[in-house]
Amino acid sequence: MGTVLDEPPRAANRHAVEAELNYLAPGQGRPVNYTFEPPPGTPWNSGELAPTRVTIRDARPLAAAGEFSLDRSGFQLVAHRSAVDDFSDDSVIRLVYYPEAEALLRDATGAEKVVIFDHTLRDSEGGSRANASLREPVRRVHNDQTFVSGPRRVRDHLSADEAGQRLKHRFGIVNLWRPLSVVERLPLALCDARTISPDDLVPSDLVYRDKVGETYSFVANPAHRWYYFPRLRPDEALLLKIYDSRDDGTARLTAHTAFDAPHTAADAPPRRSIELRALLFWPAQ
Ligand code: OGA
Ligand code: FE
Repeated sequence: MGTVLDEPPRAANRHAVEAELNYLAPGQGRPVNYTFEPPPGTPWNSGELAPTRVTIRDARPLAAAGEFSLDRSGFQLVAHRSAVDDFSDDSVIRLVYYPEAEALLRDATGAEKVVIFDHTLRDSEGGSRANASLREPVRRVHNDQTFVSGPRRVRDHLSADEAGQRLKHRFGIVNLWRPLSVVERLPLALCDARTISPDDLVPSDLVYRDKVGETYSFVANPAHRWYYFPRLRPDEALLLKIYDSRDDGTARLTAHTAFDAPHTAADAPPRRSIELRALLFWPAQ
């Protein structure tokens, strides 16, 4: 047995890594990102990137100490096992995974109503940006909605009457992100919402075939504090705050991106994950 003295000190950043994250370069105007093959001559993504070296800390010790929550840091780890083990069947996802996710989101947040509005499967080997049913990881620092497009989602997915009522009270958008196998390559980096400044946000177009959504790109800011959960497992999931109507210091969004984890074994399996997006409505207070 090794002696205790052989152990290095248990510092919170013992497993911190350094990696490059793709921020947006400053002064790029309004970037445009396509979700399908753009017309000839149009790039998939516009706006020059500024790959920036950052420290990404192991979130596990701090998560165990209760440091993170959806409303403080904008992300949270949850222990949760799904009854679904084959995510290749879309109808199983909708019939089994959606109700599980709805219950999980309600329990974790105190929301009284949860409306799941889409999901995305990703595979770093078989997925591609051109394939809506199996995408690749996203290597750009972003948040999926903006302060403008968040409320629009309520009108998109509820009747006009209900939307009018619900928009009077607190609502939000949260992603539930789950690995389909232990994550070794391309883990998700999460930025503590408390370290994001409004000046970092750049509204960006996300072009679908039938509409244009709005997301945030981010310019680099040395204040950003980045975390990841090493070797995230399928019986764990991440909750990511994407929008919150509250504006009282509650986390309203989280910058996030996939990154090339250093020291990843060359033969590490592909990263496979599913994320779903949900509107949350809290009870009137
Ligand atoms: C998300 C997201 C990217 C990825 O869940 O919102 O941006 O690589 N995911 O999993
Ligand atoms: Fe995202």
